[in-house]
Amino acid sequence: MIFMKYFVTSLVVGTTAVLLGWIISPETAAIVWHSLPGLCCLRGMLFGVFDRYIPLPIAEVPISNIPEGVSVQSTPSRIFSLEELKQYDGSEESKGLYLAFLGKVYDVSKGKQHYGPGGGYSFFAARDATRAFVTGDFTDEGLVEDIDGLSPREMLEVKHWVEFYEKDYTPVGILEGHFYDANGKPKEALHKAEAQIKEGLKEQAAAEEDKKRFPPCNSEWKQGSGRVWCSNLSGGVSRNWEGFPRKYYTQGAANWRCACVREEHLNKAMFREFEDCPPTSVSCKLIK
Ligand code: HEM
Repeated sequence: MIFMKYFVTSLVVGTTAVLLGWIISPETAAIVWHSLPGLCCLRGMLFGVFDRYIPLPIAEVPISNIPEGVSVQSTPSRIFSLEELKQYDGSEESKGLYLAFLGKVYDVSKGKQHYGPGGGYSFFAARDATRAFVTGDFTDEGLVEDIDGLSPREMLEVKHWVEFYEKDYTPVGILEGHFYDANGKPKEALHKAEAQIKEGLKEQAAAEEDKKRFPPCNSEWKQGSGRVWCSNLSGGVSRNWEGFPRKYYTQGAANWRCACVREEHLNKAMFREFEDCPPTSVSCKLIK
């Protein structure tokens, strides 16, 4: 496409040169005419090489080059004060229907049935209530942006909602306050949130790894008594070994979970045998 553009431009410029040359003298026109294919060719080759190393103007960068998950609106179009955002609660006299999440303002007017007056989630409109999205505390004290004290796991909920709003709604700006300053610069609270989300992802990956290493047992309860057992699919972890049921006391936890443990790990301190169950049995009875 770009090559075609350069070719057509070269042809137009070249033809103009021939016409101008002809006006001056037919000999000049002949020289330009015969050098035209060579000039076009040279120009095409040069631009072909330059194109590889010189970035195209922004408008010509294909959209697919923008990495997934990265907001296209890196420079927010507008910085809202809380007072301004309050004017977007979707009521008749309001200017529209917006909400903020983690300091970013979204136009949620297409979700009017949820966020508009009378909607089940109208309390999210015209404010940043990031914390309540995780805690489910929809009281005035709960509907706040401050996410201090949330666990890294809970921060993954925050990440989920960021992805949800980025995907389903249009960002229209950012909110000056807890997460951004008056110039739209991210504040410490936002950096902290990002770090906690990373921590949550790490914890999640470690838990997945732990589940693969020591998969959960199958379990059933019938009239006050139960049973745990291992199979090569228990815990939804497909494997070529079954393992032996053990009480698994994970780091710092007072409680245990039933894990299927391979022979070579059986003597580790975090595993305890079930009462009245032979150590090499793949199924153990539980008595309440
Ligand atoms: C922390 C708790 C919860 C939060 C923060 C929350 C938040 C939300 C939000 C923001 C929406 C609107 C999504 C959109 O823009 O399309 C929504 C929709 C919805 N929520 Fe919840 N919700 C919570 C718990 C629940 C629970 C416990 C139920 C059900 C028992 C529920 C049922 C629904 C339903 C049915 C919809 C409508 C889905 C649709 O029409 O597409 N939510 N929720």
